[in-house]
Amino acid sequence: MSLVITHRSADLAQLVTPLLIVPILKTEAGPPTLPPSLSSEVAVALQRAVVTGDLTGARDEAILLHADGSIPRVLTVGLGDKMTTASLRRAAMVAGKRARTIGVSSATFLIPEAILTSVGAARAGQAVAEGLPFGAWQFIALKRPADNPKPLFTDCTIVTPSESADVASGVTRGAGVAAGQEVARHLQVLPANNCTPAYLAERATELASRHGFRISVLDRAALEREGMLAILAVGQGSHNEPRFIELEYAPEGMEDAPPIVLIGKGVTFDTGGISIKPAQSMEEMKYDMSGAAAVLGAFEMLGRVRPGVRVIGLVPSAENMISSKAYRPGDVVGSHFGKTIEVLNTDAEGRLLLADALSWARRFHPAAVVDCATLTGAVVIGLGHTASAVLGTDPELIHALQVAGEASGERLWELPLWDEYRELIKSDIADMKNTGGRPAGTITAAWFLGEFVEGFPWAHVDIAGTAYTDRELPTQVKGPTGVLVRCFAEYLFARSR
Ligand code: BES
Ligand code: MN
Ligand code: ZN
Repeated sequence: MSLVITHRSADLAQLVTPLLIVPILKTEAGPPTLPPSLSSEVAVALQRAVVTGDLTGARDEAILLHADGSIPRVLTVGLGDKMTTASLRRAAMVAGKRARTIGVSSATFLIPEAILTSVGAARAGQAVAEGLPFGAWQFIALKRPADNPKPLFTDCTIVTPSESADVASGVTRGAGVAAGQEVARHLQVLPANNCTPAYLAERATELASRHGFRISVLDRAALEREGMLAILAVGQGSHNEPRFIELEYAPEGMEDAPPIVLIGKGVTFDTGGISIKPAQSMEEMKYDMSGAAAVLGAFEMLGRVRPGVRVIGLVPSAENMISSKAYRPGDVVGSHFGKTIEVLNTDAEGRLLLADALSWARRFHPAAVVDCATLTGAVVIGLGHTASAVLGTDPELIHALQVAGEASGERLWELPLWDEYRELIKSDIADMKNTGGRPAGTITAAWFLGEFVEGFPWAHVDIAGTAYTDRELPTQVKGPTGVLVRCFAEYLFARSR
């Protein structure tokens, strides 16, 4: 199902491919410059499209042309007027999405010399290898197979005019990141009747055995033994019992290095519990395990790329349901850390899961802990679908994540964690309450988490606005985005020794 990306250098005039994809830069003055050394059939087809004004190189422009001979189809994708990693990745996404609908099983993506020089060979290879499979992604596993299916787009070769080891290593990285995104998006899109906490644990176990990671999974009985009371409270209303997944990737010689700990919220369905959500769009709450998906996706990337950095992944997972056994508004519940929580709203469940995971993380003496979660509707009001929010106690960590976000095209915008906000989660009868009301909802949620952070640099990323899209985009179909897999990859690559 997934798109396999390979790389080779080739004499462009000799290419044979059912579909040649050519990125085109828009120029301020006059028509776009076309890449040199193409076969005359291809060059003529491109030139004709320039003359008619169809081909300009504008961002997201995708034009299918017909040549003949050894290259029957040419797809141009516009870079806009900037030749950058970001514009190239985006063009590759647009190309991947379009190529899938054409009905070819294989294609060739040309990275011309001019792009290699201005973007950098490794970065360019990585961007294209990340972008093509991302754009080509679709989820058809739950549809009845068509009678006369178009061939699936399964292979794409990245071609450069000359041999380059840098392009090759970039492509390897990018393909690893793409595989991580695919794992994340698949888990995200799976409906909650398939994707339960036990299923997430099963997939994590399969991933661990494929890549040789250490894994341990706590079921309900083990969670009780360990005193993971907040996770248990959220999960107690569902027949699908909670799980706590712990994964470890440790490169040779780094078994004792202080690890980076990644934590992902794994609510496989969020009804809101007794404080039930409105019916409108409630089905989107199958995506409430997108943080967990980002962490498992990052581990798929780690297993393939194997950078020199020790990483622990923690996934607290539960289903937030309604039943006679469900936790109620007003309940006071304990936690692994020992602090008590007054549950004023059972729909503020994600922070309870994360609280126990943050407390658990202390045992690793982490170099840094980053948690991610579809945590608040408020972040969608604040930042829309364009950026995730980042908050935390360590400016250096936050900055490093923002740099990774910028490099990967997954933006993070910082919100403040000023002391004044602490007031809002004070409880009359417990150590804190689980909601601070409507004002500054993303910040009070983070403040709550901060109450369970002790002894390590910490950042929290709220992805409620970025984890999925409810409309078709130029770069992808409607549905899951796999957000943070690329950002985590860049962050971890930068920390790799
Ligand atoms: N999973 C939701 C947050 C969410 C909202 C994710 C929209 C994706 C899209 C979370 O568990 C939640 O319900 N948060 C509440 C908190 C409130 C009760 C304090 C919210 O944001 O309304
Ligand atoms: Mn909720
Ligand atoms: Zn939730």
